[in-house]
Amino acid sequence: MTDENLVGLLVGRENTFPGPFLERLAEKGAQHGVRGELAVLGGARELDEPRYSVIVDRISHEVPYYRAHLKSAALLGTTVINDPFWWESDEKFFECTLARKLGVAVPKTIVLPNKSYIPDISELSLRNLAYPLDWDGFLAYVGLPAILKPNTGGGWKDVYKVDSKEELLWAYDQTGTATFGQRPKTMILQEFIAWDDYIRCIAIGREHVMPIRYDPTAPFHERYAIDKPVAGELRDAAIRDARTLTDALGYDMDTVEFAVRDGILYAIDFLNPAPDFDSFSIKEENFDWVLERMTDLVISYATGTATPPWVGEHRWWRHIR
Ligand SMILES: Nc1ncnc2c1ncn2[C@@H]1O[C@H](COP(=O)(O)OP(=O)(O)OP(=O)(O)O)[C@@H](O)[C@H]1O
Ligand SMILES: [Mg+2]
Repeated sequence: MTDENLVGLLVGRENTFPGPFLERLAEKGAQHGVRGELAVLGGARELDEPRYSVIVDRISHEVPYYRAHLKSAALLGTTVINDPFWWESDEKFFECTLARKLGVAVPKTIVLPNKSYIPDISELSLRNLAYPLDWDGFLAYVGLPAILKPNTGGGWKDVYKVDSKEELLWAYDQTGTATFGQRPKTMILQEFIAWDDYIRCIAIGREHVMPIRYDPTAPFHERYAIDKPVAGELRDAAIRDARTLTDALGYDMDTVEFAVRDGILYAIDFLNPAPDFDSFSIKEENFDWVLERMTDLVISYATGTATPPWVGEHRWWRHIR
């Protein structure tokens, strides 16, 4: 039987968020009949009644079985944070195009054909690709220095800053060295924003936004700089743009990063659907804010006072109701 008001939490190696989140949920959820636990998933059948009314998914990008399970659970009525269907297909280049259509500034960006392919793919399958690539034209558009980074992914993996065409070609060549069986990465080439200020926003429920000053050049645990609060117009602009982006993407938890140059906020990375919630990294006050917002969100979904942004969005919903 589905437990109407049970919230499941899926976690990765993070250690500071799960315990306090479940404790806060126990405190606040009791009066609404909402409980939470670390989710336990394994070997679901097609029509198994989902155990959870809400699942907070912080790790299905690394555990593909969870993603498969979550899609089916969503169909059967579980609210998943974040939408497993959309997350699966989201990409940074798509997001840059979307941002432009929404009127949010992003660096000039080009998506590049892959450097190489797995051995089973022959030249016959590549006949639609333009060759050679117009590297000079690309660089004329994005300028130098430029950033070459994966279209999907995180953790600063394979992010290159290049100062010349030679460096760009060298970095691009590195992206073709995927091991057998893996798909080589799709890369995007991006204008480097020589920022004078940098902000990272934690965005929850497509509405609540906490802009925090962030120093990407500092060691990881020192990057969130709470001693320099983001204020005034900058804060308003960050909140407005982060809301616009997360609402369009339907992400209930995300971080949205902006590089600020000459007063303009350029959205650098907003594909972070399992954002850093570690207390030592985002710091205690922000951590408390996250616990508050996240527990409010799951309680509203568990009790049905809010509806997730994506229910009914796919064609198959029409056929199952
Ligand atoms: N166009 C750009 N201009 C200036 N700096 C950039 C640009 N793109 C990326 N960077 C720098 O590189 C860092 C990593 O890039 P990005 O956030 O896109 O990658 P990521 O792997 O998703 O990182 P994270 O794990 O922090 O989400 C950014 O925090 C920023 O400091
Ligand atoms: Mg990222």
